[in-house]
Amino acid sequence: MEYILDTANIRYIKDATEYFPIAGVTTNPTIIAKENKNFFKLIREIRMVIGKELPLHIQTISVRAEEIVEEGKSLLEKFDKNIYVKVPVTKEGIKAIKILKSKNIKVTATAIFTSQQALIAAKAGADYVAPYVNRIDNLSSDGCNTVGNIIRQFKNYGFKTKVLAASFKNAQQIQNVANLGIHAVTVTPEVFEKLYSHPSTDFSVEQFIKDWKKVYGDKKIKNII
Ligand code: G3P
Repeated sequence: MEYILDTANIRYIKDATEYFPIAGVTTNPTIIAKENKNFFKLIREIRMVIGKELPLHIQTISVRAEEIVEEGKSLLEKFDKNIYVKVPVTKEGIKAIKILKSKNIKVTATAIFTSQQALIAAKAGADYVAPYVNRIDNLSSDGCNTVGNIIRQFKNYGFKTKVLAASFKNAQQIQNVANLGIHAVTVTPEVFEKLYSHPSTDFSVEQFIKDWKKVYGDKKIKNII
């Protein structure tokens, strides 16, 4: 499963990519606007921090298909070829996905609320589809169940499109989609911190150090072997 960061916060991206096995960064207009910085510089900075190899998913803001395609092309020209153009799955968005894929441009279909939206986006050629788990839950529906259906239908029909689950508010939602064999999750800094930190782990480590010191004092392993 790929862990992707759903943020444009440079400080967090720097820290997380240094410490964790991160597989890329996703942004959307809300995430970008939150940083309130020069867009061009911000994307360049994210790319510098994560390096050339990691996928960077950047969302278009246009509504008409032709304009979405133009935006996507200019993202690749201004930045690099390892950009995934994020396109919301509207009618115009689906047309844009078809055109972008005919030009061999990588696409992440986003703002997905139903398994049929995901299937149509995959048929249009999307490399990733991003169902919004928590937003689906908030519509009194079941985000995890929708993700399960998407994974199943991609398997049944032999699609290579990856499912990139998004919009999480807690660690359990992520565990639930992991249990289904999700390909990738994109996670905010707030939720990512909850995935790995556990007070019992910290407590255990403290106890190990105390016990060691009782016998070996401040000696490190390298000093006694
Ligand atoms: O990547 C999509 C995601 O950012 C939407 O999440 O938390 O705004 O529902 P949220």
